Amino acid sequence: MVASITIDERKFIQNVHHVVKDQPVMAVVKNDAYHFGLEFAVTSFIEAGITTFATTSLQEAIRIRQLSDAVYIFLMNASVHFDLLKQYDIAMTMPSLSFYNEYKTQLAGIKVHLEYENLLHRSGLKDQTEMEVLLKSNDEQPSEQQLIVDGIWTHFGYADEFDVEEYQIERNDWLTCLEYVLNLGYQFNYIHAQNSASYVREDGMLNQHTHARLGIILYGSRPYSTLPTTITEQNFTVSANVIQVRDIKQGETCGYSFQFTADKDCLIAVVDIGYGDGILKTRAKHDALINGKRYPIRGLMMSHMFVEVDTTVKSGDTVTLYSNNIRIDEYTFKGVGANSEQISALNHHSLIKEIIT
Ligand SMILES: Cc1ncc(COP(=O)(O)O)c(C=O)c1O
Repeated sequence: MVASITIDERKFIQNVHHVVKDQPVMAVVKNDAYHFGLEFAVTSFIEAGITTFATTSLQEAIRIRQLSDAVYIFLMNASVHFDLLKQYDIAMTMPSLSFYNEYKTQLAGIKVHLEYENLLHRSGLKDQTEMEVLLKSNDEQPSEQQLIVDGIWTHFGYADEFDVEEYQIERNDWLTCLEYVLNLGYQFNYIHAQNSASYVREDGMLNQHTHARLGIILYGSRPYSTLPTTITEQNFTVSANVIQVRDIKQGETCGYSFQFTADKDCLIAVVDIGYGDGILKTRAKHDALINGKRYPIRGLMMSHMFVEVDTTVKSGDTVTLYSNNIRIDEYTFKGVGANSEQISALNHHSLIKEIIT
């Protein structure tokens, strides 16, 4: 018996249908599709009707193209591999006016989306004036030397924050910028800004936008805590096994360096999963599910954990760390780490990975 991660492909696709409904969505598949596996996620999303993808790595963008000639691919980080961008028909962000000025000549014929920097300050043109300068400069080039401005976009850094006004600020600044550029008479095939949190809190797409650019909600986690769990279903399970159950006497310690000291006689299940499999230390401050009941985790080692159990638990019982009944997002809202942080930590080399089709 070994710890495993199991993904239910049918349910995953059904859930994408449920989240997306009939809205045009650009699926974010960066970092190996939030660690679900790029090939698995892209083919599942295509089956669910999504035909537009975004990632941060050129290598991933090329792998998406190798999976389908029919999809649109947007690279959210700029690349100077202009030959590959053209060869694989990949659109990319325009990250700054200085990038445009530096690579103006090589950018001829490349599809770009103008990025608005906004409050995140990670990348992008500063404001609508810089966008206008770039657009007009591009217009002045002979047509065969122009870049193809196919889209315009921003990213919200505060859409899951409700106690501060930053989301309203970044939203309004972006809408002002967009309105300004549209009023100059430019048109874009792709206008996108909303991540999962923004998409849900706006109850769908903002006006004039062509796509919502969604990540975590497609993968089954809620972007903020006040949402019902029915908004998205978690379709993967991380489980392990009870190796043995040991009697521990009051005052005895278990694990390395006094990790757990029993304050009463108790039963400790030794379980075959640990931080080496990607279970975060912060996650081990909480509980695990055994035979439908939650039990407290008492210690975490590289390949084992201790769970305090009762007499109903036996060796060979399954211990669930994550499933739709003990969800990633529950622990996100308990402060364990972001949804994507918990998912990314899982070690797909040590866990047995199974996709149920
Ligand atoms: C630029 C960009 N757009 C969209 C997303 C998707 O965000 P979420 O997973 O919150 O939907 C991300 C994720 O970090 C991102 O970096």
